[in-house]
Amino acid sequence: MKCKSVEELQQFVDEAKIYAKFGKVADYIPALGKANPNDLSVAIYYPDGTVVYAGDSKRKVTLQSISKIISLALVLMERGEKDVFEKVGMEPTGDPFNSIAKLEETAPVKPLNPMINAGALVVTHLIRGNSPEERIHKLLAFVKSLTGNPNITYSEEVAKSEFNTAYLNRSLCYFLKQHGIIAENVEEVLDVYTKQCAIEMTCLDLARIGLVFAMDGVDPLTSKRIMPLRIARICKTFMVTCGMYNASGEFAIKVGIPAKSGVSGGILGAVPGRFGIGIFGPALDEKGNSITGIKLLELLSEKYSLSMF
Ligand code: DON
Repeated sequence: MKCKSVEELQQFVDEAKIYAKFGKVADYIPALGKANPNDLSVAIYYPDGTVVYAGDSKRKVTLQSISKIISLALVLMERGEKDVFEKVGMEPTGDPFNSIAKLEETAPVKPLNPMINAGALVVTHLIRGNSPEERIHKLLAFVKSLTGNPNITYSEEVAKSEFNTAYLNRSLCYFLKQHGIIAENVEEVLDVYTKQCAIEMTCLDLARIGLVFAMDGVDPLTSKRIMPLRIARICKTFMVTCGMYNASGEFAIKVGIPAKSGVSGGILGAVPGRFGIGIFGPALDEKGNSITGIKLLELLSEKYSLSMF
């Protein structure tokens, strides 16, 4: 069973929106603090090209941590599993996304997974290129192929706002550099990372990326393989085990699909073999996930039996 009408989807959006009052917009990146907590938009992209959407589907929002799944796929394609997983692990942490705590407990130092900031910074560091510009453009080209949208770019304002205030991510980078995991100028890693997080798109673009993951790396609209099956599987597995940070277990029980969140309020969902979902709802819960987005996914999962378990 699938959601076919805008009216049906709008009803779920209206119900989920009630929960916005229990959340808070992220403001540790000053530019994100301008978002309206009551916004909620969603798009569902089906393999036959049908799209159903509700809310302000034209609004562009930055990816933030959702970008971590995309940079991971790119780096796995460029370097292969062995190289990547020598530097970053495969285990969930149970800690907040920006925690530094576990880094000191592993010897040799290795971030536990690529979805926490420490691991994502290592992954971004692994994107090959002669300059930060070349690397971010390579990532952008990959995002364009995933969305089928040649106009995707990043928000200079949000990137700058994060770059200027990224004290914690700088600390993580310096710690990783001290231990030989990051081998470049920290400001350059942060330049690429903050631009990567500031890549912006609509919930329709986001749903299209979810669709590619749902279809194991193939864009069903063009029949083009965008990434190898194995890499799509690895990414989806990380989405299940770490995609919603230290709320991943509860999310797996209540919703049961591979998904990745970001502090802009975005959630990318991939319902294996069925469809992709893109959501933007900037009111966040205490773990940094969209409170309305999660509610909406719970409602959709219950109605259309989305759980893969
Ligand atoms: O590194 C940061 O803090 C942000 N650019 C991204 C964090 C994020 O989206 C975590 N998500 N829930």
